[in-house]
Amino acid sequence: MKNRKKVLITAGPTVEELDPVRYISNYSTGTMGYSLAREAVNRGYEVALISGPVSIPAPHGAKLVKVTTAREMLGAVKKHIGGSSCLVMAAAVCDFAPAKRSATKIKKRARLVIQFTPNPDILGEVKDVPGVFKVGFALETGGLFGKALCKLKAKGLDLIVANKAGRGRKDGGPFGAGKKDFMVISRDGRKRTRMGVTKEKMAGYIFDDIEKAAEAA
Ligand code: CTP
Repeated sequence: MKNRKKVLITAGPTVEELDPVRYISNYSTGTMGYSLAREAVNRGYEVALISGPVSIPAPHGAKLVKVTTAREMLGAVKKHIGGSSCLVMAAAVCDFAPAKRSATKIKKRARLVIQFTPNPDILGEVKDVPGVFKVGFALETGGLFGKALCKLKAKGLDLIVANKAGRGRKDGGPFGAGKKDFMVISRDGRKRTRMGVTKEKMAGYIFDDIEKAAEAA
């Protein structure tokens, strides 16, 4: 792994605009992806960090590529994946975008129906790129292990890090800083839980796993 030193990390939410002043997105703050990028820089990797809009500082030493929408993130991932030994998709990608972005502000009205169209699945699009160790995240409200293992298989991942969603903005759930609970599942279905750890610490565990798997390969 260390002799093929480039890693690609995505972080933060994607933002899908409805009109010039409104958007749909999610509560991602970018903390996990930015912690992973910092960890990778500290371990000596060349790091490309593709980030949706966040308000935290970029780690020194990482190449920051700013994107807004899921489609832009897909374009950036495809552009930078060549030569990468590892892709860590920590971004919270919006699965849907408004079918149409209004060029003018949508005015107040009695009823507003918005149509959404599916965004591309970024991991799905790069599933067949060979020689890249792929790490995904899974956010679930229940049935964490089974659903995360299905995602690992469907998306052709080597490792998946699963989090349980909270009840919403007030309890923070897996979003933002602080100590969180994680479940890490490998391709063979082996599961490890890491309870009450910071994302900085978790980033270290994830890179330990990536390097261990690379050594074994
Ligand atoms: N992901 C992706 N492209 C998308 C959506 C998600 O590459 N359009 C990636 C995420 O970065 C994450 C993994 O897929 O690493 C799982 O994301 P998650 O939101 O948990 O699952 P989804 O695939 O979106 O499925 P669902 O929302 O139905 O659970």
